[in-house]
Amino acid sequence: MEKRKIVVTSALPYANGDIHLGHLVEYIQTDFWVRFQKLRGHDCLYICADDTHGTPIMIRARKEGITPEELIARSHAIHLKDFTDFQVKFDNYYSTNSPENKELSEQFFKAMEKSGAITKKTTPQLYCEHCHMFLPDRFVKGTCPKCGAPNQYGDSCDKCGSTYGAEELGSPVCTTCGGTPVVKDAEHLYFELEPQHDYLEKWIPGHTTSDVSNKLLEWFKEPLRGWCISRDAPYFGFEIPGYKDKFFYVWVDAPIGYIASLKNFGRFDLWNDPTAELYHFIGKDIIRFHCLFWPGMLNTVGFKGPNKVFVHGFLTVNGEKMSKSKGTFVNARTYLDNLPADALRYYYAAKLGGTVDDMDLNLSDFVQRVNSDLVGKITNIASRGGQMLQKKLAGQLGTMDEEGKALIGKCRAASETIAKFYEDRRFNQVVVEICKLADAANEYFDKREPWKTVKVDLEATRTSLTAALNAFRIIAIYLKPILPVYADKAMKLFGETEWTWESIDTAIENAKMGDYEYLASRIDSKQVDAMISAATVKPADSGEVAHESRASKNKVKGEGEGEQRNIPPLKPEIAFPDFEKLDLRVGKVEACEIVPKSSKLLKFTLDAGSLGKRTIFSGIRGQYEKPEELIGKEVVFVANLAPRKMSVGISEGMILYAGEPGKSGGVLSPLSEAGAGTPAT
Ligand code: 2FM
Ligand code: ZN
Repeated sequence: MEKRKIVVTSALPYANGDIHLGHLVEYIQTDFWVRFQKLRGHDCLYICADDTHGTPIMIRARKEGITPEELIARSHAIHLKDFTDFQVKFDNYYSTNSPENKELSEQFFKAMEKSGAITKKTTPQLYCEHCHMFLPDRFVKGTCPKCGAPNQYGDSCDKCGSTYGAEELGSPVCTTCGGTPVVKDAEHLYFELEPQHDYLEKWIPGHTTSDVSNKLLEWFKEPLRGWCISRDAPYFGFEIPGYKDKFFYVWVDAPIGYIASLKNFGRFDLWNDPTAELYHFIGKDIIRFHCLFWPGMLNTVGFKGPNKVFVHGFLTVNGEKMSKSKGTFVNARTYLDNLPADALRYYYAAKLGGTVDDMDLNLSDFVQRVNSDLVGKITNIASRGGQMLQKKLAGQLGTMDEEGKALIGKCRAASETIAKFYEDRRFNQVVVEICKLADAANEYFDKREPWKTVKVDLEATRTSLTAALNAFRIIAIYLKPILPVYADKAMKLFGETEWTWESIDTAIENAKMGDYEYLASRIDSKQVDAMISAATVKPADSGEVAHESRASKNKVKGEGEGEQRNIPPLKPEIAFPDFEKLDLRVGKVEACEIVPKSSKLLKFTLDAGSLGKRTIFSGIRGQYEKPEELIGKEVVFVANLAPRKMSVGISEGMILYAGEPGKSGGVLSPLSEAGAGTPAT
């Protein structure tokens, strides 16, 4: 296969806001696509940056009493951390407020000016004498000139949908200071698009999908209007060369920021390389900028345009627009405080079909799909097979028999189908294919009944597990673009250091598997509730009480302090495979302290032998008057419980405690001197 050179971008997020789940629809799908290309061996770069200019950033910095530079430095670090924790991996994440971008923006403008595409027009605009600035459309509100609705922004009316100039608003008010602006004439620079009418009309259908281009082409029935590209001081941005106190409108230097970031990465050569491919991933709200103004600018300046602009829809949550008051406008960090990144990546993959349709995050479907498919179906093959191989067969793989080879053949045969779905951004179909293979592997496993054969025929069992685990390995390779951290852990199980798409052709036989490492765990609707609760912003006019009670209800649920709040009923029966998932170990209590301000918690520090030290919070304070007496004792704890974030810290396991309901009991301790870290089963 010939090695492709590919440059990929996602839209640059504004530096004045947090990354939220809506943004992540784009960054995560771009990341899937880039990682897929890399796994296939292509030279593919994922380029992005913070979009740092414009009035909102200037005003936000002013309000916080810091410089815009300080604000954008802070946002850059926060954004990058959010992306990294969501496993979104850029080759370069830069800033539009950079020397490269300034130079390129000036170069672009001069070339546009030279070509005759820049014109000047004087128009009346609203000016706030208190704030000393011309007011952008979203910084002024007033009465709609068409229907008379009050409280409308300066560009369009929410009630009647009409568009107008801000100076046409009745009783305008500056949203920053509340003062009344005046109308002043201002001279502005325009980028004329009509000379490129024919060029763009031809360009658009070849570089976007038909739904997008049909919409865009409607504008071509009339002459294309010029685009105002200047803003007056004060403005945080780049000054336009030759025009004192005039700045480039943020949307001029933002897309140029793609090139600047690539240049900063040292691969400027790729942009205009005729053998390199260039793709922009964007949301449907910014089509005009990427499919009209941007190709127009690039064409004027003699730069190459994107091969394709991939447009996606918006995110809805539970079928509705994200809402702060409903707690469905969830920031990246709020999600991560409550749920694992893998779960969202998996769910987004399962829902994204490469179209411009909106995508719904249905929260109960999210929990159900992650648990039933990612954990119950896919990971289950590795956890059942891997743990049995480890425990009963010293982790040693054997060879596969004909039936096992047929299973592997089936997994390999799906390779090009899955690759094509990835290439076409039909990630939902990738997931469908992967689940089909997981079903086949589980069927094989169940048919071979290794849990029975292990008692009578170890070698037959080894043969079965070898095939099941090799099938899992291929599935994990296919999943790697979607779940890179998960796939890396899986790879280590097989003692390997690198996977490419071709790694599916290798079979791992007669080798020793690494220790089974936990790959994914079930998620709980309580975690979702806690996230929604944390994201809920009380509407200014709604009752305080409703919100408080909701938050506090979730607080109790989320903190897990209540292991023995009341006399608990007997829990429902569980199957043996459920019990088998617990990795019980022995740990020695090094420290045991009362947690201040908690009536229930004890903080344990365990010496867990080969696992190192573990901090565990346990809700058994009521049972121990002198907790320090536990120091030096050996206790049994669940070592593979996912770490749990509590208000007092992170709990890394669960100490086992038993007793008659309502009466006192005690922590479980091994009869023998097992030694810290020893498996307890
Ligand atoms: O809509 C936005 O969030 C913009 N900051 C996107 C800019 S994309 C590119 F053109 F820079
Ligand atoms: Zn003002």
